Amino acid sequence: MTATISFDRLSDVYDSTRGLPPGISEQITDTILDIVSPTSETKFFEIGVGTGRIAIPIAKRGYSYTGIDVSEKMLSELHRKLEGISHLLTAVKGDASTLQFADNSFDVGLTVHVFHLVSAWKQALAEIRRVLKSGSVYLYTHGTMDSNLANPNHDLMFRQRWEDIIASYGYPLPRYGATEEEVLTELRAQGASLETVIAAKWQSELTVNKSLEHYQNRVYRPSWHLPDDVFAKAIDDLRGWALEHYGSLDYDLSSETKFKIVVVRNWA
Ligand SMILES: C[S@@+](CC[C@H](N)C(=O)[O-])C[C@H]1O[C@@H](n2cnc3c(N)ncnc32)[C@H](O)[C@@H]1O
Repeated sequence: MTATISFDRLSDVYDSTRGLPPGISEQITDTILDIVSPTSETKFFEIGVGTGRIAIPIAKRGYSYTGIDVSEKMLSELHRKLEGISHLLTAVKGDASTLQFADNSFDVGLTVHVFHLVSAWKQALAEIRRVLKSGSVYLYTHGTMDSNLANPNHDLMFRQRWEDIIASYGYPLPRYGATEEEVLTELRAQGASLETVIAAKWQSELTVNKSLEHYQNRVYRPSWHLPDDVFAKAIDDLRGWALEHYGSLDYDLSSETKFKIVVVRNWA
């Protein structure tokens, strides 16, 4: 297995911190099904399936869905959510860079917010291509954070400030996997045609206090590599910056979040 980031520590709080607001999950599912036009024979496949945020709603519509993930605890949470539901979802432990499936096994591939974590991301792309049938569609979502640096949303401003603070203590954010641009450039170089679809837009509800709480509770990967003493100092600095910058812990940081899917065709 290649170097990878364990999400075991997050399995209990993943859905409460990364869950989609009511109605949004259905919009994303509808968009995916519109893009793919599946039949009862269609087999979906997702790498980094996590707690099933994307998989379960599709499987609930009656489709065959296979997911893999390196985190046993994320998979346990997914299985817990499936109790009592009849479904065709198989979720098993596996690593993106060495898939345990035969060539030409699936009709639709998906990855959502995973490639930033996978160091052997080119190998993972090759593996996805291998297990997809010829003519399959691959749906790529890098993340839901708006990465428009010219017009940063508040999540991104907090994130940038946090990265500056931890770098100032000698703990810059380790880089594991790929950026979105790297993946899309690689796919284009491999002859794929790409189309961007915004599956859903919503206001993410956030205050300064809530955002600080998330950092304090270490629900974001950029704090996992810090020793506890450095983490405590960095949190104090972030709190100080936030109070000075926004003036109040109740300041409303809500901003628009988009679920963007890059539809990859002519590739598999
Ligand atoms: C941010 S979560 C996203 C989960 C899910 N795709 C979603 O959108 O809710 C990233 C997931 O990728 C998994 N992961 C990280 N590296 C992986 C790898 N090399 N192979 C398979 N899964 C991996 C993590 O364990 C985690 O469950």
